[in-house]
Amino acid sequence: MTPPTGIVAALPGDGVGPEVVAEAERLLAQVAPGIRVERHLFGGAGIDAAGDPLPAETLAAARAADAVLLGAVGGPKWDGGARRPEEGLIGLRSELNVYANLRPARYGNVDLLIVRELLGGLYYGASGVRDDGTVFDTLEYRPDQVERVARRAFELARGRSGRLVSVDKANVISTSRMWRRVVGGLAADYPDVELTHALADSTAMRLVTHAETFDVLVMENTFGDILSDVAAGVAGGLGIAASASLGDGSGPGVYEPVHGSAPDIAGKGIANPAAMLRSVAMMLRHSFDDGALADAVDEAVDAALAAVPTPDLGGTHTTTQVTDHVLAALA
Ligand code: NAD
Ligand code: IPM
Ligand code: MN
Repeated sequence: MTPPTGIVAALPGDGVGPEVVAEAERLLAQVAPGIRVERHLFGGAGIDAAGDPLPAETLAAARAADAVLLGAVGGPKWDGGARRPEEGLIGLRSELNVYANLRPARYGNVDLLIVRELLGGLYYGASGVRDDGTVFDTLEYRPDQVERVARRAFELARGRSGRLVSVDKANVISTSRMWRRVVGGLAADYPDVELTHALADSTAMRLVTHAETFDVLVMENTFGDILSDVAAGVAGGLGIAASASLGDGSGPGVYEPVHGSAPDIAGKGIANPAAMLRSVAMMLRHSFDDGALADAVDEAVDAALAAVPTPDLGGTHTTTQVTDHVLAALA
């Protein structure tokens, strides 16, 4: 197997973002020296340096890269400002057309994958303010947006244990009824996948009480944002939850921890780098087609979390100690 080569655009961002991206760079330098990593301004750091959370130079570099590795954006410093760091992330996702956000959770006998629709729903519908002061955001979907993410979820389920749960609020919301119709209509194309529909509220509870009954779940953007943090919480916390955002394959994927900039622990050297290192593994698998190396990284991260846990896991170890352990295991 030839070692992976290419260019990764690293967007460290804010808070613990740069701290965990530095660990990703150490990992790649050791296991994939043929991958060149170049840093670019993003999020609050972009606002501070260039007045823009997604500077044009950063977007151009992201488009030209084989993959994008993202730390996290946001923090109290930019709350209430004219531009928000989070705008950069929302903009980057849509510019790169990464509509399927994969958020796995593995622990004990649980092995599930949330597929979050990433470019529509409540995040991207019309919003505004009326004369009477009413503020609104709208949840909108075109059927083809639902179809493309659902097909991705069916395909992923086919490669796993073949069960797909489509999550919605079809008992209340009309977009959810369309979502259910579109997803249900695709089932005949995937006879090897067992499709069921479930409501988002009871799914949240089932993720806490019976997560082992799930394989792949697919859902609207906001539901996926919230339920993926629920899944992360029961799996051990945001410090270990990774993600991959994928499009149709013509452009780069975006790989980032599920967590944010963690302002409460930023600068202390204790952020758990596992979410980031597992995101690197997802990048090696999906963008560099090196599943064997990805498996090796995942195994080394699992071992490091058991041996040298950070405070979020009840341990006393530091960010760099976790990565040191991973690097030693992979040497
Ligand atoms: P958060 O994920 O930043 O933090 C929630 C809790 O999890 C905190 O107690 C934090 O210390 C802990 N945590 C997060 N990552 C950790 C890690 N690697 N190791 C150990 N503990 C970790 O969520 P929040 O506090 O609600 O949001 C803070 C900021 O992050 C906000 O501005 C938000 O918009 C932004 N955010 C960004 C992203 C992203 O860039 N992808 C994701 C989520 C939130
Ligand atoms: C996430 C984050 C982002 C989202 C924010 C920071 C825009 O919470 O990736 O889960 O809501 O998608
Ligand atoms: Mn989130």
